[in-house]
Amino acid sequence: MIIFATKPACLKIGTQTEFIDMFSFFKKKEPEKLFYSTDMHCHIVPGIDDGAPTPQAGADLVEAQQRWGIRRIIATPHVTADTFENTPETIAPALAVLKEELSARGIDMPIIHSAEYRIDDYTMDEFNRGVVMPMPDDYLLVENPFIQEPVNLDRTIFDLKVKGHNLVLAHPERYCYYHLNLPRYSQLRNAGLKFQVNLLSLAGHYGKEQKRVAEWMIENKMVDFLGSDLHRPQHVVAIDRYLQSRDYKRHRAALESRLLNDRLDF
Ligand SMILES: [Fe+2]
Repeated sequence: MIIFATKPACLKIGTQTEFIDMFSFFKKKEPEKLFYSTDMHCHIVPGIDDGAPTPQAGADLVEAQQRWGIRRIIATPHVTADTFENTPETIAPALAVLKEELSARGIDMPIIHSAEYRIDDYTMDEFNRGVVMPMPDDYLLVENPFIQEPVNLDRTIFDLKVKGHNLVLAHPERYCYYHLNLPRYSQLRNAGLKFQVNLLSLAGHYGKEQKRVAEWMIENKMVDFLGSDLHRPQHVVAIDRYLQSRDYKRHRAALESRLLNDRLDF
């Protein structure tokens, strides 16, 4: 925190600077943009997971992404045992309906889909029978359960890498069971995982601890991708606020040169 020994010039009473600052305070702020243009983690495909419930709600989320400067989207519906057992057959038609709504609104946004794969028996069975929906460059966005690390995670990482997949762990900062075991993050990276941190974590939306760990990852050069993980309008409000913050400017400066989002080839 910066503590001023004396008042900075712009706060001195009655100066011309103060007058100018007063007027700029009332001026509507230009919305801040993201410093990259590819969102590779969001739940905008309507009606098939806990994200957008309708095409209209999905299109509202896309409008927010567009406002933030996003120009390409990889939609990533959940693939999770028992709850969201999505396949190409469930995702493609729902995405087509979303695109119809976007086109009715005159929004031209390239959207492809992959998935956010929970590492569980359903996902592994799907992979074993050859049903895989990778991102460009054969990236797979995978997530751990939130309660505990999957059994045999290291073996699973190894097996998927042998099959030629490039694995990206979604929001590693959200798995609380790693927070008291930070060296585990380095082990996972050494095993071949790239890390995708959520904007919402950096915004403090999930809590102080998640934000602290996400910032620790930035400091330790562990952040390869950012994602919105947009599900609902509350997330839009949180990201809007974050983009106006000093934290965002600080994070942006640290990440600008290393983020891989826009290098995805599609
Ligand atoms: Fe997600």
